[in-house]
Amino acid sequence: MSEHASPMASPAGLSGLRRNFDPGDPGFHADPQAYYRALLAGPPVQVEMGTLSTVVSRYGDALQVLRDPKRFSSVIPLQPGTERFHMFGDVKNPLWTDPPEHTRFRRLTASSFAPRKMAALEPRVRAMTGKLLGRIDGGREFDLVAEFSKRLPLYFITDLLGVPESDFDTLVPLVEFSFVLNQLKPGAPLPADFLEYGARIRAYFGGLMDQRRRRPGDDLISNAVAAHDVEGKISDDELFSLVMVTVLGAVPTTADMISAAVYHLLTNPAQLAMVRRDPALAAGAVEEALRLDPPVHTTIRFSTQECEVGGVRVAARSPVYVIMGAANRDPAHFPDPDRCEITRNPNDHLSFGEGIHFCIGAAPARIQGRLAVTMLLEHFPRLRLADPHWRPVFKGSTMARGLNALPLRAD
Ligand code: HEM
Repeated sequence: MSEHASPMASPAGLSGLRRNFDPGDPGFHADPQAYYRALLAGPPVQVEMGTLSTVVSRYGDALQVLRDPKRFSSVIPLQPGTERFHMFGDVKNPLWTDPPEHTRFRRLTASSFAPRKMAALEPRVRAMTGKLLGRIDGGREFDLVAEFSKRLPLYFITDLLGVPESDFDTLVPLVEFSFVLNQLKPGAPLPADFLEYGARIRAYFGGLMDQRRRRPGDDLISNAVAAHDVEGKISDDELFSLVMVTVLGAVPTTADMISAAVYHLLTNPAQLAMVRRDPALAAGAVEEALRLDPPVHTTIRFSTQECEVGGVRVAARSPVYVIMGAANRDPAHFPDPDRCEITRNPNDHLSFGEGIHFCIGAAPARIQGRLAVTMLLEHFPRLRLADPHWRPVFKGSTMARGLNALPLRAD
């Protein structure tokens, strides 16, 4: 791949894509950026996606929606096209609530993500990364996604939740399912084995929550249980849902971020050479990968009243999709937006969201990304694509997207 991340589509093609914006189109999945460029060329579009929905892509318009939870609610009613936002039934979680419920959820997790905790994480993440790298045989072709990117965030999250290492295997299928979930089409039923496993994982976390009540530790479950028991404001269902959102929100996203960062570096030799010379630039490489290929491309809000975004009238009580994947390449905000530039400053991408729902896991994800890139390059001085002509295949949906595999060699 060149220093430019993707080719430009022709202007005539662009206007067609804009008019017919269709996230179900296989062409969209193959190259969403062509659609995004079309969307970025004008004000928000309104399309039928189960329900007539507004699609917001320009950076300024995205900020307007994400910063205004009063007009753009995170409580998404169940209606055609919004089924996937109801995977926990009516049980609440921070993502899909508004204040004051949302504020209560954030308070429950605040102590687990306090700056002092985050700083203390670094040696742990370093040790986990070292352990995983030590297991990779660089003398043969290996898939970074399977052997490293998916594993590091799983180790990390089990640690954060206080899941004992001996129970680690219990969570592996959860991560695999989270990748399956991300690929489900809107309205598709959940796979039967997912439901069966869901019951088992529910029982497992129920037991862990009981244990933590009897013998609290310094993990996310103990902290949330303590806040729960003191404040008496969160139900067991909500606590379980919080744990699930944390696991499902943390693992596939962080895995996709790590794979994208490594992919962009290995396909942009000048940028790779810069990081090899100055490992402190690894943090910038992670930010640029997050901007170019965000693990979460799109989020949804629901208008509480008739309002206006980017000059377009939005009807009351209608879905509003915010495409961070497009806003991150808005030429009005990011000069030369398709170019991979690890020293880009500022790099205020929207990949962790914005406003009150800004990702609670951004700090640990960034620590993992930076250490993963630095230590991988250090451990494998000859790291490269196994096949220089290899083309990436993406898994996921319009909402979440990441590399399916990343075959590498290091010999
Ligand atoms: C590269 C990795 C990650 C990315 C790209 C990412 C992305 C996002 C985005 C875009 C949102 C906001 C969604 C919205 O406004 O609708 C969000 C929220 C959230 N993220 Fe992350 N995330 C990542 C890692 C993590 C990690 C490591 C954790 C937990 C340890 C986590 C837990 C959450 C939770 C609980 C929320 C809901 C926050 C709220 O609604 O107030 N995420 N994430």
